[in-house]
Amino acid sequence: MDLIKTFRLAIIPIVVLLFLIAPAPPSRSQRQKNVERQIDALIAKMTLEEKLGQLQQLDGEGNGAFRSEHLDLVRKGLLGSTLGVRGAKNTNPLQHVAMDESRLKIPVLFGFDVIHGYRTIFPIPLGEASSWDPALAEQSTSIAAREAYSTGLRWTFAPMLDIARDPRWGRITEGAGEDPFLGAAFARARVRGFQGTDYSAPNKILACAKHWVAYGAAEGGRDYNTTEMSENTLREIYFPPFKAAVDAGVGTLMSAFNDLNGVPTSANPFTLTKVLRGEWKFEGFVVSDYTSVKELINHGLAADDKDAARAALNAGVDMEMVSRTFNQQGPALLKEGQLTQAKIDEAVRRILRIKFRLGLFEHPYVDETLENSALLTAENRAAARAIADRSMVLLKNDRETLPLSKAVGSIAVIGPLADDKRAPLGWWSGDGKPPDTVTPLAGIKLKVSPATKVNYAKGCEILGDSTAGFAEAVAAARASEVAIVFVGEPAESVGEAASKSSLDLPGRQLDLVKEIQATGKPTIVVLMNGRPLTIGWVVENVPAILEAWMGGTEAGNAIADVLFGDVNPGGKLPVTWPRAVGQVPIYYNHMNTGRPPEAANRYTSKYLDVPWTPQFPFGYGLSYTQFKITNLQLSAQRIRPNGNLTVTVDVENVGKRPGDEVVQLYTRDIAASMTRPVKELKGFQRVTLRPGEKKHLQFVLTPEHLGFWNREMRFVVEPGEFKVMAGSNSEDLIETKFTVE
Ligand code: NOJ
Repeated sequence: MDLIKTFRLAIIPIVVLLFLIAPAPPSRSQRQKNVERQIDALIAKMTLEEKLGQLQQLDGEGNGAFRSEHLDLVRKGLLGSTLGVRGAKNTNPLQHVAMDESRLKIPVLFGFDVIHGYRTIFPIPLGEASSWDPALAEQSTSIAAREAYSTGLRWTFAPMLDIARDPRWGRITEGAGEDPFLGAAFARARVRGFQGTDYSAPNKILACAKHWVAYGAAEGGRDYNTTEMSENTLREIYFPPFKAAVDAGVGTLMSAFNDLNGVPTSANPFTLTKVLRGEWKFEGFVVSDYTSVKELINHGLAADDKDAARAALNAGVDMEMVSRTFNQQGPALLKEGQLTQAKIDEAVRRILRIKFRLGLFEHPYVDETLENSALLTAENRAAARAIADRSMVLLKNDRETLPLSKAVGSIAVIGPLADDKRAPLGWWSGDGKPPDTVTPLAGIKLKVSPATKVNYAKGCEILGDSTAGFAEAVAAARASEVAIVFVGEPAESVGEAASKSSLDLPGRQLDLVKEIQATGKPTIVVLMNGRPLTIGWVVENVPAILEAWMGGTEAGNAIADVLFGDVNPGGKLPVTWPRAVGQVPIYYNHMNTGRPPEAANRYTSKYLDVPWTPQFPFGYGLSYTQFKITNLQLSAQRIRPNGNLTVTVDVENVGKRPGDEVVQLYTRDIAASMTRPVKELKGFQRVTLRPGEKKHLQFVLTPEHLGFWNREMRFVVEPGEFKVMAGSNSEDLIETKFTVE
């Protein structure tokens, strides 16, 4: 008999015994108490300079290296964090200086913008939100965290949670679109993905919810611009994704660049202290955006550096990114009594608390071999492809133009985005590298039969005026059975400092589409862009349009999956598409007017030169199959203000292919003490159905869904009638009513 068996039998009681006599691991609250004690001890030893040093973040060289100045600062204990220093060969040496040569051995916190992937790049966040599947965002951020961790990073400046109702604003690309409910769902998922349940775990990193707050409402869509809005709008539209992130345990927030109702958000005590710390009990720290503290001078809130530091610190900013006013002006402010020692200690405490919770003191270094095995693995690429598959939105598909047959004899692949390796990575693409990108041309070649002839022609550049390539592109289309034109935006046209006054396809791309369409060949337009575009001509004239966004490293494979029917597109727009830039801001959850638009009545709320309706409504997207949504039922006709209501609805695949539908639930408070939006998203479920299959879906509406912030700034559910609507987008809905007593 085997020795192994005997050994096993003997070992069990030993293990049980060890378990019984081993001290129980400390509880969460014990651990937290220990941390606070360690912080007390450390703060007691710190000089004022060392304290202010913890409040300083400086950026690196851009290529991951630290600046030589950092060595000296870290040695003296004057640098709490860096931005962009990454790669174990950079982080470990700098950390060694902190741990071996500085007086108090406080580790440096390494941060970076890991927004939609580190080396494996996922679809831009707006694209990923089009999946209406937050679990995918949790998966992509968790992979991004693992990759980033392997390079010594412990902190990302993500997720970007700004609600954006204005596609002129280039940063709309970085968020989840226009809706607070969808935005909150993605906020939770992204925080969970980056941080897990414990961000001290290996492969997890600290998240940073940004930009606190209302940055997405920059006037005119012009980046860094002023925002002005009521407290109700703040609380109901712009706060919810941040609240969701705080509730999900996000460790840090970033204060924004914008002025908010006259008090810039990097010095706004209402948002930074009253709401964040007072109401939401946030225990982490706030880092300012890049030089936003010093920019308080330009805003006209501060007269000079000293005044800027005073305003930001006293309002609740803890760490200053790149500008150095806290460090340079702190001592004088303290001496003059404009800043208290307690205020400084509070900011230091918050930063140290996060460093302890991260486990940085015990594990300050990263294993230098980790990078080799963690980055751009086959598994990560497969996830990027699957997520891109599910992020695509079919905008038009007349006469079943799509999907194409893989056995098609010849196919023209046209357009400046067809073989571009940079654009699909989008803005903030971490350490993503263009040579890793699968372009649509490459993806299509891998997909079609060996006999299919692929005729590629670029046609024109994304930007610029030349039509020199048109003739070649037209010839390619003529020589093929079908033409696919890839048009959109370059990565540099979206993201920070990328506001635009026109939403048209840039350069000569629309002319290229027109030329190809004029050949009479069935033409498909694939959009690769980072914001809604105005594409009226394309919608009217081209039979099939696929919105592929900036799809990341695996964009081309995913696009081919959808074009050739291996994947049935199921994404939905997370933002309203205007017909004309003059309609902006246009969003589905607007208030009604006293004169809602009517075609036959001039004196109603509309435009003379463009319809009032959007090109594509919020929540819109087609499939290669068809769905029917029916049988909307409520568990009760009347509920109490504190009661719940169960809503059920059926969804059936009435077409011929398996596919996904996103069933959306909206409510409307019909008459209240304040005007309420015409619709508000309050639930959604993405389901996969076989042909003929029917599912019975259930949603629960709670007081949290039905209430609003009233004139006294109290959150209330008011008695009266409510509408409940369900459907496949924000305009295609069936409805019923109930009453709150
Ligand atoms: C400025 C951007 O607004 C912010 O989102 C980013 O995290 C910082 N720069 C750091 O790169």
